[in-house]
Amino acid sequence: MSTNPLDQKSQAWSGLFNEPMSELVQRYTASVFFDQRLWRADIQGSLAHAQMLSECGILSAEDFKAIQSGMAQITSEIESGQFEWKLALEDVHLNIEARLTQIIGDAGKRLHTARSRNDQVATDVRLWLSAEIDLILVLLKDLQSSLLSLAKDHIDVILPGFTHLQVAQPVSFAHHLLAYMEMFARDAQRMREIQSRTNTLPLGAAALAGTSYPINRLRVAELLGMVNAKGEPQVCQNSLDAVSDRDFAIEFTSASSLLMVHISRMSEELILWMSQNFAFIQIADRFTTGSSIMPQKKNPDVPELARGKTGRVVGHLMGLLMLMKAQPLAYNKDNQEDKEPLFDTVDTVKDTLRIFAQMIAGEKDPQTGQFSGGLRIHKEAMQNAALKGYATATDLADYLVKKGLPFRDAHETVALAVKQSIKDGKELSELTLEELQSFHKSINADVFEVLSLEGSLNSRTSLGGTAPLQIQSQIERHTQRLQKE
Ligand code: ARG
Repeated sequence: MSTNPLDQKSQAWSGLFNEPMSELVQRYTASVFFDQRLWRADIQGSLAHAQMLSECGILSAEDFKAIQSGMAQITSEIESGQFEWKLALEDVHLNIEARLTQIIGDAGKRLHTARSRNDQVATDVRLWLSAEIDLILVLLKDLQSSLLSLAKDHIDVILPGFTHLQVAQPVSFAHHLLAYMEMFARDAQRMREIQSRTNTLPLGAAALAGTSYPINRLRVAELLGMVNAKGEPQVCQNSLDAVSDRDFAIEFTSASSLLMVHISRMSEELILWMSQNFAFIQIADRFTTGSSIMPQKKNPDVPELARGKTGRVVGHLMGLLMLMKAQPLAYNKDNQEDKEPLFDTVDTVKDTLRIFAQMIAGEKDPQTGQFSGGLRIHKEAMQNAALKGYATATDLADYLVKKGLPFRDAHETVALAVKQSIKDGKELSELTLEELQSFHKSINADVFEVLSLEGSLNSRTSLGGTAPLQIQSQIERHTQRLQKE
């Protein structure tokens, strides 16, 4: 009979138990089929823990060596798909520990000295999430690069800017794209901040109260790279909080929700712009689908799904908040439920960022750095839409102010001019000089420059405005910023 107590776990936890766990309870409480994706972090955490134990004289050098070689073997077994995950061993931690003991004997049983699964799982999830945030940051940068590349090519393309989805004032298409750049830049900043808090070590809190062994938690943090910007190790400072805190998961899901809300807003615009009524853009065929009944259809499924998946990620945020809301200190099994929403959030965000970067600017040629196969922009349709809807009415009011009228009077004068134009079925720029002068005598021939889309755009030179010069300087700023990231 095996001397490994974990081998008998399906029978009972220990001599304390008088009957084995029922199969249903085993299935209900097990997490191995989803938390096995933490395996690499689990091994990484165990190796750092074992190294520290041996440095502190709690574990012999031979035992540490055996643990290292056992873990190397387990790593290759998992990588090659040979590792046998057992439901009876409940979770990733017990599966790996049992296999370690099977391979190296007693040294494997000593690994769990001065730790508990409570501080172990909290450490694993933090390590795993921090590495995932690194990947998300790269994808966020790719998405920003594709927005920037599209913006650079479309500074002079004018479309109506909307408020209340009513034509408001003409703006550059590049300016519109750069609005999303701002959102994604903030998302990246938030991710970095959350990552810095995630990189704080719970290990050493043991079950909840700390441990009587002379361990060195700072050393473990150092070994795992859980350090601040100055390179100083960061460890959770209260053992009860260390094992029960999932703030990092909640704030990550919150930042992901906001990121997805930004994606969703953009999706909504792409969907509208692709509709026949706008016809501003065409999404490349490989991102659209047809209809099984209507042969003429090309549907923007990708942005629609992204809009839908936003609900899913926000749902995960709500799930995690509810998971935590009534938990007494310290660790409770409830916390095992943190994983699936967190994993799904990471998967959804990564796939969505990847697909959006490609859909917007197309794929980047690694040789030339050029993007191709992205959104097709229908410049004329955008321009025509901006010409309709009295988009330069504010410019006319500003023109009158420059001629000496108080703004409120100018506003009223232009309102009357628009009213008359609507009646005549004309745009402001289609009125003759005489007609315009009938609204105010100070109007001269130079008014037509003001009523043109280009004139309107060029005039909005305030910092952050849509004038091409401003856009150029924003593009420059973003280019430099991304180079540094
Ligand atoms: N699978 C567990 C989780 O994800 C590991 C910690 C279990 N701790 C315990 N005391 N039962 O939270």
